Amino acid sequence: MIHARITGTGSFAPKKIITNQDLEKLVDTSDEWITERTGIKERRIAEKGQNTSDLAYEAGKKALKAAELTAQELDLILVATMTPDTILPSMGCVLQDKLGAKNAAAFDIAAACSGFIYGLSIADAFIKAGAYKNILLVGAEVLSRFTDWEDRTTCVLFGDGAGAVVIQRHAGKHGILSTHLHSDGSLGDLLHVPAGGAQHPASHDTIRKRMHFIKMKGNETFKAAVRALEGVVQEALEHNKVKPEEIDLLVPHQANLRIIQAMAQRLNMPMEKVVLTLPKYGNTSAASIPMALDEAVRDGRVKENHLLLFEAFGGGLTWASALVRW
Ligand code: UT7
Repeated sequence: MIHARITGTGSFAPKKIITNQDLEKLVDTSDEWITERTGIKERRIAEKGQNTSDLAYEAGKKALKAAELTAQELDLILVATMTPDTILPSMGCVLQDKLGAKNAAAFDIAAACSGFIYGLSIADAFIKAGAYKNILLVGAEVLSRFTDWEDRTTCVLFGDGAGAVVIQRHAGKHGILSTHLHSDGSLGDLLHVPAGGAQHPASHDTIRKRMHFIKMKGNETFKAAVRALEGVVQEALEHNKVKPEEIDLLVPHQANLRIIQAMAQRLNMPMEKVVLTLPKYGNTSAASIPMALDEAVRDGRVKENHLLLFEAFGGGLTWASALVRW
C-alpha cells in the first residue's frame, strides 16, 4: 500500500514578541478580554525586511534536515499562504530559489487558514498518482503586514510564523490516511482583504479606506467555524472507521481557544491530547498546524504509530480535516 508520509518537520517564529499588554497601549483592549475571548497571550511579529519567504525558508530547511533529504532531491514545493511577499512570483518559486531546489516544481495554495491541510491533500494525491516522490509543504504567513493595528477586533488575533513538512512516498501503512476539503464561497465576506487584487487595485482611495487590511466578522466566523469543524471531523472519523478515543493527538488550527476546546469536547478528548500553541503565537493562519505539529514532534509527544487528527477553518470560507498514521 502506497502512502504519503510526513518524514520531517520544521518551524520558525520571528524573535519579536508583542504581548497583550503591548496591545493595550495601541488600541482599546485588555489582557483580560483577549485571554478570555481568544486564549492568546502573545504573538510573534516579523522584523522589517523579514518576509514570508524568509520564514518559509527557515522552516523548510529544518524540515529537510529532519527528513535527511537535500533540497536537490525535492521534486515539488508547495507553499500555503495568504500573505505572500509578492503576487508574482509565487512563494513556491521564491522558496525554490532560496533553497536551491533546482529539480522541484513549485506553486502556492490559496486556502487561507485551511491551506496546510489543502496542501496535505494535494501532496497525497500527487504521491499516490506517482507524479512526485519528495515534496516540501510549507505554511508561512506574515499577517502583521495585513493587520490593521487600529482595529481592535482583528489586531489582537494574528501572528507571524512558518511551519514545514517533508512528505515522501512510503510503501507501508504510515502516512496520510485521508483528507476532506470543503469551501463555501458565498460566505467570503466574513473574512477578507478587500483591496490589492484586480477588483480594487491599490489607489489613494483604497489606502484611505484601509481596504488592504484583513476584515473579519468575528462572531459569525466563530459560529460557522464550530459548525463546519464538527462536520469535517466526523467525516474523517467515519471515513476511516475510527472512534474518537483512538485518536492520540489533535493538532487543530489555532484560531481561538474556545473553538479548540469545543472540538476537544465533541471528541471527548482531554486537553492533554490537544497540541496548543495559540497562547504564544496567536493565529498564524496556514502556518499554525505545521508549527504546532513540529513542536509536538520535537518534544516527543508524537510517537510512531500514533493517530493524528488535523482540522482547520478559514477565509474563503474553507475548512478541512486530515487523519495521519505517524
Ligand atoms: O483563523 C480563521 C478563522 N477565524 C476564526 O475562526 C475566528 C473566529 N472568531 C473569534 O475567534 C471570535 O469571534 C473573536 C475572538 C474574534 C471575537 O470574540 P466574540 O466573543 O465573538 O466577540 P464579539 O465579536 O461578539 O464582540 C463582543 C464585544 C463587542 O462589544 P459590544 O458590541 O458587545 O459592546 C466588541 O466590540 O467585544 C468587543 N471587542 C473587544 N473588546 C476588547 C472586540 N474586540 C475587542 C478587543 N478588546 N480586542
